[in-house]
Amino acid sequence: MTIRRGLQKNVAYTVPKLKDFSPAALDKAVDQAESALKDESAEIRSEADWKAFRDRWMARKNGVLTQINDLWLKGAPKDAKRDVGQHVNEIKAVVTAQVEALRPKRELIIGTAASQQARQQTHASGVVIPPIDITLPGIRRRLGAEHPVIKTMNEIVSVFRNLGYSVEEGPEIDTDYYNFEALNFPPNHPARDTQDTLFVAGQGSKPLRDRLLLRTHTSPVQIRTMEKMKPPVRVVCPGKVHRNDAPDATHSPIFHQIEGLAVDTNITLCDLKGTLDHAMKALFGSEVKTRFFPSFFPFTEPSADVSISCIFCGGKGYRDGGRCPNCKASGWIELLGCGMVDPNVYTFVDYDPKKVSGFAFGMGVERIAILKYGVDDIQLFFQGDVRFLEQFG
Ligand code: PHE
Repeated sequence: MTIRRGLQKNVAYTVPKLKDFSPAALDKAVDQAESALKDESAEIRSEADWKAFRDRWMARKNGVLTQINDLWLKGAPKDAKRDVGQHVNEIKAVVTAQVEALRPKRELIIGTAASQQARQQTHASGVVIPPIDITLPGIRRRLGAEHPVIKTMNEIVSVFRNLGYSVEEGPEIDTDYYNFEALNFPPNHPARDTQDTLFVAGQGSKPLRDRLLLRTHTSPVQIRTMEKMKPPVRVVCPGKVHRNDAPDATHSPIFHQIEGLAVDTNITLCDLKGTLDHAMKALFGSEVKTRFFPSFFPFTEPSADVSISCIFCGGKGYRDGGRCPNCKASGWIELLGCGMVDPNVYTFVDYDPKKVSGFAFGMGVERIAILKYGVDDIQLFFQGDVRFLEQFG
């Protein structure tokens, strides 16, 4: 054991061998040890001193306490062991408490830069070690926020949840069967062309219906839902879809849709109109009107496109003394597709078209988010620019 010389100078104490184990002799031995402890404590000037002091008294191998244990307790005659044990324990407690009491306190560095400078230490290598400033703020993890597309999607879903719809999801990579065939697309429909749809490569040897593609709409989830559920069905299917489109301010090869499907006995076009009118009012405000006009989708008959009255000009077609640019002065904004489920579709899922009827609708989530939040470029949703995204937090 090494002890600093300054300390060693005053260290006279060595653990005596005891011959007399009488209580008086024991008391005297303990007193001697304790006064040595006190003297040595008074010599401590630095952290290094304290470490040497701690080791001298408490080192397991040859510290004073170990020696006391060996020389006094182990050497004691049987009938004195109990008494010696008590004395040894007493001195152990005193030593431990003293070492702990003298443990150097880590200095908390609080104060001006100048006073911190004064406190910085220089390592033996010459490296300057700056003091730790515990008053500095910690590293805060920045809280994320819901992406505007997801936020809008959740909002739309909750409008339909409140009407008793449940949520279904399906795969983003699906087969031609679910994306087209079971939805009554004829074999040569242009949507099946690679110009419009992204097919997984190298599947030429498979029958058309088994070929994998990135789903172009969420309508295949209609089919998957009807395959596993008997009517009554009321579901919304939110999800990501893909089309072979070049990106620009209004197009993105990846976007999101929400499909809705209600099938039951006696569902009519009136139910469809009422449901969508309510949903648009819930999303854009109760003053919004809806307009349905004929359209075509292979899986609905009749089909319709739905417009809402322009939320920017209140449906007037003009504002700020000029044409409303948002609705191109028409007063209407086209927003979604819908229709009564084509009876042919029911035959693919084993529903009886004579007994059930229903409607379906599909809307683009980005399109709704663009209108709700006044965004002028769909690309902003996908660029991940925090300055844009944090406005929705
Ligand atoms: N799937 C259609 C599309 O992507 C939208 C739609 C859904 C139309 C349901 C009618 C019924 O354009």
